[in-house]
Amino acid sequence: MPDPMNPAASGHHVRLGSNSGQPMTRRDGAAKVTGTATYAADNRPEGLVHAVFAGASIARGRVTFLDVAAARAHPGVIEIMTPDNRPPLHVNPDEKFHAFAWRTEALQDDTVRYAGQPIAVVIADTLEAATEGARLLAPLYASDPARIGFDQGTRYDPPAVGIGAEADFAKGDLAAGLSAAAQVTETRITTPLQYHNAMEPHAIVAEWTEDRLTLDTPNQAIVMSRNAFAQYFDIPAENVTLRSPYLGGGFGSKAIIVGPQLLAILAARMVQRPVKLVLRRDQMFGPVQHRGATQQVVRLGMEATGRLTALDHHATASTSSFDDFIEPAANASHNLYASPSIRTRHTGVRIDTGTPGSMRAPGEASGSAALECAMDEAAEALGLDPLEFRLRNYAETDPASGKRFSAKALRDCYAQAAARFGWADRPLAPGQMRDEDGLLVGWGMGTCLFPAPMFPARARAVLRADGTAVVETAGADMGQGAWTALAQIAADGVGLPIDKVVFHSGSSDQPDGGVAGGSAHTASAGGALHAAGGDAIRQLAEIAAADPDSPLFGTGNTGVTARDGRLYRSDDDSRSDSYSDIMVRAGLTELTGTGSGARDPANEERRAMFSHGAVFAEVKIDPELFQIRVTRMVGAFAAGRIINPHLATSQLTGGMIWGLSFALHEEGVHDLRTGRAMNADLAGYHVPVNADAPSVEAILVDETDPYVNALGIKGVGEIGITGTVGAIANAVWHATGKRVSSFPIHIDALMG
Ligand code: MOS
Repeated sequence: MPDPMNPAASGHHVRLGSNSGQPMTRRDGAAKVTGTATYAADNRPEGLVHAVFAGASIARGRVTFLDVAAARAHPGVIEIMTPDNRPPLHVNPDEKFHAFAWRTEALQDDTVRYAGQPIAVVIADTLEAATEGARLLAPLYASDPARIGFDQGTRYDPPAVGIGAEADFAKGDLAAGLSAAAQVTETRITTPLQYHNAMEPHAIVAEWTEDRLTLDTPNQAIVMSRNAFAQYFDIPAENVTLRSPYLGGGFGSKAIIVGPQLLAILAARMVQRPVKLVLRRDQMFGPVQHRGATQQVVRLGMEATGRLTALDHHATASTSSFDDFIEPAANASHNLYASPSIRTRHTGVRIDTGTPGSMRAPGEASGSAALECAMDEAAEALGLDPLEFRLRNYAETDPASGKRFSAKALRDCYAQAAARFGWADRPLAPGQMRDEDGLLVGWGMGTCLFPAPMFPARARAVLRADGTAVVETAGADMGQGAWTALAQIAADGVGLPIDKVVFHSGSSDQPDGGVAGGSAHTASAGGALHAAGGDAIRQLAEIAAADPDSPLFGTGNTGVTARDGRLYRSDDDSRSDSYSDIMVRAGLTELTGTGSGARDPANEERRAMFSHGAVFAEVKIDPELFQIRVTRMVGAFAAGRIINPHLATSQLTGGMIWGLSFALHEEGVHDLRTGRAMNADLAGYHVPVNADAPSVEAILVDETDPYVNALGIKGVGEIGITGTVGAIANAVWHATGKRVSSFPIHIDALMG
């Protein structure tokens, strides 16, 4: 529908070619399953040595002694780096010099701020010698009691939450909304510390050649990180090459620079050799971020008709003692349900852990868990079906800003997922369903929402006279399929079949592909790739139009379309010229186009931009043992234009499984006395396996978003986890009549 405020914006701005929209299988799949894909730790430059850091075994205090002599005496040990001898950094690691700079630990002094913090680095000829050297350091400490858990932490009012988001928000008169309500419910939810635990641990191979630095390290924001590394070491950005062709998962933890990376680079400088540092699994529970724990209270006021009168969401979230990353959980209540009054607030709690960071739908994941449980409880109080209750509070405009949505096909998501799931047969009261084996059966649902941001991104497209193209952007494929979806867009940008396009990504030598985060990578880098192709085609068309030997001679630029390596007159398909012929006649071997992905600021100003979805879950629970199984999940998602339905579905089902993981499995447990992580391995830190997720379906709902960006692309990476956590908790209630108050849901919470 044309927008009277913005007549240019009707339909997708840009028509894409036939590569986009295809369910291509991932292009890096064969390399991954045959083991030829080189991850950072697979690099072994000439002269490589190994670094292992020793982690603090206390959570707060000072290191008073390290047996450096014993470590140094161990065969194969080359050097020990401590705060006494580590080379200087140009930027203090405690300085927040840009929005994505976390305060980090790089041996700046002898202070211990959390258990597992690096306190020294041993560099040796072999990994084994470095590991043993680190053990021989046998540190002594002056220790203070650990502050772990909400009760021992120090509460404060954070100035901002997440990365620069507002900590407090109010719309309308909450007190009036609550007093006008026929019913008020209050829902309390706690969520634990969660650790990203990507399959590939954080790893780095660092090599100095005079003042040039080459880094192999998995990274979600290659050029931004390259620039920051250059600042830490006071060298020009172009002196740093950061290569990250493959990531074994990122989930937000590989988007920023962390202390162990700086330590490896410092170690390489110290010993004048290339250094490899790979974190052990237990070392992933400290210096490389996590999701903060939350305590949330959601109060809802409702009219008897089911319309919300008030929505009050207060989230308390843990952060470290020395930096501020507050899980922006309450902000999940800004954009989902219509209410005349909304208030959201955050409180921070300082505890002795590493600093949390972005993890898989930061804010929305834990915040929507509380909100969706609260909505279910409110529906129960009103005697309404949970889906009907949500429809009665459907937001036609963005509740927080009042803006119209760029596109919102959430009604379709509800309808399609509910139909596929069979929701219409659900009894209203809990405890009504049993399966043939006598297991309790429950059905629950939740709404999914995730913002559609964009990061600045650039790309380059080089047409070659042989009829092929090389298209480049410094993007990151952490398993989500960027190499494939971005290559599809790149091929459409240059008007070639994908097998004629060489797609390069994953190195800082390429144009800045932006951040593979915020579910924004396909939109950001994809927009840049398409624009770069378009720029090359425009130049080619100009050459053809000016060439008397071309069938396109005299054709204006706007009158040409590009398809399968040829330019066609738009008004006369019989007149065409191949890229090769145009370039050969012009004496060109190559022709380069550049482009950037950006959003029209006018659309940003006027529209609220989100992906939407709905998840329905079935649980079966043993009536005596209370073991919980999620036997079925159906989600439907509307996320604008889908470039690759196969990979988008995979992202969405993966997200729903993350939601299952949040609901039933993941929990970082720290010893209250020592502050140490007690389950710092994948045996103790549970994530679901195939048997835990027998049936997970994601439906792609058609949605045309004319405002979100030129290609109409939103994100699918994180939305699947939102809504799903609540859907499972609500299904548990429906099976048992017991409301969940903390995640992950433990068996004992259902007993008695
Ligand atoms: Mo995501 S948590 O923005 O990688």
